[in-house]
Amino acid sequence: MNKTDMIPHFTHHILCIGAGYVGGPTMAMIAHKCPQYRVTIVDINPERIAQWNSDRLPIYEPGLDEIVKAARGRNLFFSTDIEKGIQESDIIFVSVNTPTKTFGVGAGMAADLQYWEKTARQILESATSDKIIVEKSTLPVRTARAMERILFSTQNGVRFEVLSNPEFLAEGTAIQDLEQPDRVLIGSRQTESGLKARSTLAEVYANWVPQERILTTDIWSSELSKLVANAFLAQRISSINAIAVLCEKTEADVSQVAKAVGMDARIGPKFLNASVGFGGSCFKKDILNLVYICRYYGLNEVAKYWESVVEINEYQKEHFVMTMLNAMFNTLAGKRIALFGFAFKADTGDTRESPAIYIATRLIEEQADLVITDPKALVNAKTDLKGGEGKVQFIEDPYEAAAGSHAIAILTEWRLFRELNYERIYRSMEKPAFIFDGRNVVDHSKLYQLGFNVYPIGKPVLTHL
Ligand code: UDX
Ligand code: ADP
Repeated sequence: MNKTDMIPHFTHHILCIGAGYVGGPTMAMIAHKCPQYRVTIVDINPERIAQWNSDRLPIYEPGLDEIVKAARGRNLFFSTDIEKGIQESDIIFVSVNTPTKTFGVGAGMAADLQYWEKTARQILESATSDKIIVEKSTLPVRTARAMERILFSTQNGVRFEVLSNPEFLAEGTAIQDLEQPDRVLIGSRQTESGLKARSTLAEVYANWVPQERILTTDIWSSELSKLVANAFLAQRISSINAIAVLCEKTEADVSQVAKAVGMDARIGPKFLNASVGFGGSCFKKDILNLVYICRYYGLNEVAKYWESVVEINEYQKEHFVMTMLNAMFNTLAGKRIALFGFAFKADTGDTRESPAIYIATRLIEEQADLVITDPKALVNAKTDLKGGEGKVQFIEDPYEAAAGSHAIAILTEWRLFRELNYERIYRSMEKPAFIFDGRNVVDHSKLYQLGFNVYPIGKPVLTHL
């Protein structure tokens, strides 16, 4: 056998630009399901790439390590050589970050497309053969058009087809969501070449996703669907959180209300867990994008409607802080408070837009001494709370974190927090001991019996005072 016979023949060379929460797991799944494709992920950040090539991946996601480790070096590669990656591939996914603009027109609302545009220019510069470009990052509607304008701006004979293929995975369940997606959405132009590119991409997913779950649309509808899906999900949370506040005033129980309401098949039970507020990199950003687009088209009433989803979320976080302050005799100064959880949800180390950031910052303003514990998010928490040195400690062991504190606030629904020995914790705390359950995850009446003053979300307070 000569050497070339040993080089596996790949039917597609897939590149992903951006090795983040979306690009990493999505490409790992494609490589896992499709050994006939070569999948390369590139990033401008060499540290990130080094981590993807190491034993400690840069993101925590249940099940991710196994599939990365099995495919890495076989048909999954991580690299910083973006130019080479572009040249060698026929399908390029773009999943660079698109944060909310912090400056200029649309600051605080519109998406900051600078990383996206740089990527488009780099593809144009480096490409020497035809490519399918796939928008994976969540983007404001009509970004594909902007991408096309850049890519079609020179006549070098290379042809590009731009597709929209939004990712619907949720963090913490990314692998499961990728393996069995509710749907895969692919938007294209309705031209002959657009439809051809669309079916090429559909074939990639058809390796493991049933045909009836692969949905094809025009490009704008696909882009908009992603924003709308996130806006609808977030809207359910703000709706139930608004009702939770009403429950707290009227002694109704929000969990019972959510159950009764969710049993209506037209409403359904999911995403009705009242909480301290939603976080994550997508919900707020996507709604604000939607609001910005509506305003741009003069649809002020529509914009206001969606903006209120974010406003209720901000209100919910502040309401939680005020509940703590009022319960604890209107002063938190010098009191040790343990925050149980800093990630924006369980099973992830991600803290982007986590309600814990706002709450911690407000508690520091009230001069509380914070102790933060979280099984996966302490590294990010330290970055998020830079500047709060002296007022914040980070402790991995929840028992140690709680010892000597006046109050515990549960901010992330980690399973671990349900299973702790709260009798032991109660004994180690200052009295009266308070627990503010921002996720309704612990047994409130049991904790009350142990001696805690218990403040759930949207349920009657259980207090000995
Ligand atoms: C979301 C979308 O679910 C996903 O489809 C999209 O691709 C990206 O954005 P993600 O942000 O990873 O995913 O997590 P998700 O499970 O949606 O939770 C978002 C936030 O809402 C978390 O802070 C979570 O704790 C909160 N939440 C969720 C609630 O407060 N109550 C609920 O009932 C559900
Ligand atoms: P997401 O949650 O959308 O995946 P992340 O911030 O986790 O977002 O990941 C985006 C990644 O894109 C980051 O690792 C960042 O370094 C990378 N990135 C940003 N701009 C470029 C670029 N021009 N070329 C390559 N990678 C980029």
